[in-house]
Amino acid sequence: MLVALSSDKGSPGTTTSALALASAWSGSTLLVESDLFGGDLGVRLRRRREGALPEAPTVLTVAAASRTSSASDLASRHAHQFTRDLAVVPGHLCAEQAAGGVDWQALGVALAASSVPVFVDLGRVQAASPLVGVAALADLVVVVGRASPGSVVRLRERLNRLIPAVASHRAAPAGRRVRVYPLLVSSARHGRADVADVCRVLDDSPAHPFLAGAGFVAWDPKAVARLEAGEDPRGRLSRTELMCSADVVWKEIGGLVKHATEASLRAAEVPSADDRRSSKQRSVRSLT
Ligand SMILES: Nc1ncnc2c1ncn2[C@@H]1O[C@H](COP(=O)(O)OP(=O)(O)O)[C@@H](O)[C@H]1O
Ligand SMILES: [Mg+2]
Repeated sequence: MLVALSSDKGSPGTTTSALALASAWSGSTLLVESDLFGGDLGVRLRRRREGALPEAPTVLTVAAASRTSSASDLASRHAHQFTRDLAVVPGHLCAEQAAGGVDWQALGVALAASSVPVFVDLGRVQAASPLVGVAALADLVVVVGRASPGSVVRLRERLNRLIPAVASHRAAPAGRRVRVYPLLVSSARHGRADVADVCRVLDDSPAHPFLAGAGFVAWDPKAVARLEAGEDPRGRLSRTELMCSADVVWKEIGGLVKHATEASLRAAEVPSADDRRSSKQRSVRSLT
């Protein structure tokens, strides 16, 4: 299972939401930070016993290794164990480290092949980004935004541009449809109403047929600090607004991803290459 998180411009909370969702997942999970502009997890996370994460390996290590291996434990092998269930591959620190020569597509293939569920934080992704190919390999693309009117409009415009870009990269497996999930960072009090507003805004949008639901992660700075300090997310932290809201989201997307994986396996048995091509063209046409 591969879930990709991305955002439009600004810093709406993509990395924090990815950390919260991956921490809420039941069982072993891998969080990979693959942000072209440089990562934050390496400097923000503190393990309970060992403290800060070492500076390497990073996502660039996994990307380099994935050029020569497609082993299902490739990403896990280069991850740092953060809590009992969550392993983390932090992003490189500075954008310049990733200038040229990084095979992002190979990284995406390795993450999609992982035997452990993977959440990959792609940061800001525009249609021409080399990370669109990684999003195309995901079972679900979560697009993170804030709840202010301006951010919601940006979220809609981002979805309308990202979906055709992802669809045009999507060759295999057969019959897989782009599935997107808008995720707001909002207060626990207003989150549900904000999500309903976003759904209304997206109702008439070309992105609408591709929506697999929508949700919110609560704004909760104290809980974020505890999570980043390595506290067990299944203990008292699980009762915070942050983790309760992440729990609701993962229950919804967990079901969606399972359903999508089963449907794509069924579809892979049926259509010919021509069927695949025409269904992909139909999906892309509806967005242009
Ligand atoms: N749910 C949240 N509750 C409290 N603070 C948050 C939350 N989400 C993000 N933040 C804060 O907002 C800032 C930007 O978040 P970050 O996850 O780094 O955004 P992005 O990855 O989109 O750039 C950080 O200071 C982070 O701690
Ligand atoms: Mg980030």
